[in-house]
Amino acid sequence: MPHDNRDSLDTRLIHADRSLNPTNAVAPPIFQTATFRAPSVGEFVRRSGEPRHPEYYSRFGNPSLAQVEQVLAAAESAEAALVTASGMAAVSAAVLSVVKQGSHVVAQANHYGGTSNLLQKLLPRFGVEVTQVDQRHVSAFEQALRPNTVLILMESPSNPVMALTDLAAVAALARSRRIVTLVDNTFATPVNQRPLELGCDLVFHSATKYFGGHSDLIAGALMGSAALVTEVWNTHVILGTALGPFDAWLMLRGLRTLGLRVRQHNHNAAALAAFLESHQSVKKVHYPGLNSHPQHELARRQMSGFGGMLSFEVSGGFDAAGRVLKRLRLASHAASLGGVETLVVHAAANFAHYMTPQEAERIGIGPGLIRVSVGVEESNDLIKDFDQALAGA
Ligand SMILES: Cc1ncc(COP(=O)(O)O)c(C=O)c1O
Repeated sequence: MPHDNRDSLDTRLIHADRSLNPTNAVAPPIFQTATFRAPSVGEFVRRSGEPRHPEYYSRFGNPSLAQVEQVLAAAESAEAALVTASGMAAVSAAVLSVVKQGSHVVAQANHYGGTSNLLQKLLPRFGVEVTQVDQRHVSAFEQALRPNTVLILMESPSNPVMALTDLAAVAALARSRRIVTLVDNTFATPVNQRPLELGCDLVFHSATKYFGGHSDLIAGALMGSAALVTEVWNTHVILGTALGPFDAWLMLRGLRTLGLRVRQHNHNAAALAAFLESHQSVKKVHYPGLNSHPQHELARRQMSGFGGMLSFEVSGGFDAAGRVLKRLRLASHAASLGGVETLVVHAAANFAHYMTPQEAERIGIGPGLIRVSVGVEESNDLIKDFDQALAGA
């Protein structure tokens, strides 16, 4: 039974997969198996030839995967979803299923580092050209289009200065030219933003982040029309980017509380952003929910909440930011984001791997920039932690 669109998002996250649970167990069982018995030779052959059959071989499909995919489709208002071994597996399979030799891709100057590597290091080796544009201007996407453009890749808000892309406007541009649009919706989550409802074709997530929600899972997810998701599945099966059944089950468990958690992330990030903006040792705060964010109006138009990610620039620069990181008591200095606990990274130090300081400055990464994945701790405790850490800046 497909999900009932009349139910709200929170309800769908909890019940959309009920029809796929063949048992009476309230918590769905984990189908921890690599393969399935076939009742006859004919049925074995039929299952092997049917895309995404859930009971043939677990690289192709599995009931635990089908269950979480039904919830994911419901969450993003999609016809279909596909879970993958990581967020990078999702974007790689999606991009490689759309492009061919001689194709052109338009993407943003700002993407998650792994996505940038896919665009800059892998695609050119296969004769695919990429143009990266300033995501803040729809006209930049339009000017970059060529007759052989087959894909526009977007990410909004993007790491680490929370720049936004006008998803509806770029989707309209692409649709009139039959170009596929693919959006990384990891930072926003479907609780705050649903790109498919804005006219985009495909959405992907690092499910490692808010979907898992507890920093104990590496996984990815892709949502869109049944036809497009099946095309991506065809590539995904060749690449072997399947997610294991237990990890699919962990994602399903995380998704049950996505709405609750994301609303708390939204609340805490807004409170921390307001506090940081008023602090004398902070030069700038990047958070789409602040009136001072240069694209705040767009954020209000396309997002229903502003998310749990923010960054801020410590006035004292690189070393001062390092001292703040060291003094934080609750917030941990660690990669990743979207878990229940607050995590911080020194953005300038991080980006030094693949950018010069001048390039970093150009996209707004100053030497004192700290990125915060605001967790769901009590917001006043977080504010106190940042306050005492900034006292040592
Ligand atoms: C915005 C964004 N997209 C994609 C990815 C890649 O996801 P994964 O690490 O699950 O492969 C990440 C990981 O940090 C990310 O932050």
